[in-house]
Amino acid sequence: MTSNLNALDPLNATVRARLDQALRDHLPDPAASDAPRLAEAMRYAALAGGKRIRPMLVYAACRLAGGSLEQADVPAVAVELIHAYSLVHDDLPAMDDDDLRRGQPTCHRAFDEATAILAGDTLHTFAFELLSRAGDYPDGARVGMVRALTQAAGGTGMAAGQMQDMAAHGQLQDVAALERMHYLKTGRLITASLTLGYLAAGRPDAELARNLTAYGDAIGLAFQIQDDILDVTMDTEQLGKPSKSDEKHGKSTFPALLGLQASRERAQALCRQARAALAGYGDAAGPLQQLADYIVQRSH
Ligand code: IPE
Ligand code: IPE
Ligand code: MG
Ligand code: MG
Ligand code: MG
Repeated sequence: MTSNLNALDPLNATVRARLDQALRDHLPDPAASDAPRLAEAMRYAALAGGKRIRPMLVYAACRLAGGSLEQADVPAVAVELIHAYSLVHDDLPAMDDDDLRRGQPTCHRAFDEATAILAGDTLHTFAFELLSRAGDYPDGARVGMVRALTQAAGGTGMAAGQMQDMAAHGQLQDVAALERMHYLKTGRLITASLTLGYLAAGRPDAELARNLTAYGDAIGLAFQIQDDILDVTMDTEQLGKPSKSDEKHGKSTFPALLGLQASRERAQALCRQARAALAGYGDAAGPLQQLADYIVQRSH
């Protein structure tokens, strides 16, 4: 398939369709599974829509690093599976207790809690199974991709941030603590998406790796600030997930701490910081520059 990431739409429809096809192809077929209901719940959680920001970052970083879209397919699927797992567990009654995700009943509502827990677990392990066997990568690249994704998802990344999020219920943290929590729960997986794309391309370039990390850290924090802003400013229909969920659960958020205007300014400043990190790459960085704008301008 020929596709061009330089098209103006940051969520390039052709690349998105490519990712959706790869997800459908890789996810287990319920008819051929030992646990058909589990496979159905996995497909439900991963195929129900979503902006696919993290895979788009994998594709864009891989292209900027001199790789092909084909080389980005497996890590793009893997990071989206980890993201889908994180959302299934995030929505559970023990966590955010939300009933709607991507405009549909959350996984535990459509199935049941035990199935949702197991679907999350299995999306998680399946991401690493894919990274270990699918596609055509040197072993070193596979190990690097597995390491980047484990560090971003586990106790030094998303899971640690989610733990801090749960512990901070009903408390207002200071800005530094809030930024650290956002960095862990959301930022690290976003930065890992860029690292995955870079590693998949197989062309070492330490300066590019550093610049992609700087870009990722800035848009990762901006992404969660914008998510918190949208929770306050949009309605449930626009979001496809319950609005005012953070307030209802006494969450520690940027708007709660700083107010909306200061939160918007912080997100805009981070967007500029991200764009500056890739300023030296000219048009080749165009898709990533557009993605940075999209992250702070999006309305869902
Ligand atoms: C929502 O992520 C969870 C956060 C980390 C804020 P997204 O806004 O990327 O969710 P989808 O994939 O588009 O549904
Ligand atoms: C979730 O943050 C971040 C994850 C790691 C899943 P939120 O709880 O704010 O995400 P939404 O708003 O439910 O999508
Ligand atoms: Mg949450
Ligand atoms: Mg939530
Ligand atoms: Mg949120």
